[in-house]
Amino acid sequence: MAKIKFTFEDKSLEDRVIEGFELGQSILDIAEDNDIHLNHNCGCVCACSTCQVYVKKGDEFLPEISDREEDFIDRAIAPTLESRLGCQCIINDENAELEVEIPDQDQIIGHEH
Ligand code: FES
Repeated sequence: MAKIKFTFEDKSLEDRVIEGFELGQSILDIAEDNDIHLNHNCGCVCACSTCQVYVKKGDEFLPEISDREEDFIDRAIAPTLESRLGCQCIINDENAELEVEIPDQDQIIGHEH
């Protein structure tokens, strides 16, 4: 069963482990379904960088990063080599095990859809 551990840059939030979600969803979808706040200003069409996450473990279970995704990551706040856009990271492997850090959402000018 696929599993994601969410950790948070905002240390006032507690880590969450989510499993048993449907495959074919993005990290953003899974976060939202579980009341984990992650901005997504462009509505998930890879045209912003507000859904940036840091994939600490398990990036081998994610689709390859596209040039377009890379371009938008370059415009994100504090991008690192672990940065991905949550809306572009679809999980399709039932054995996937990921650890994903959610950046501090207070630093992002955004709104929820
Ligand atoms: S929501 Fe805009 S790129 Fe993910």
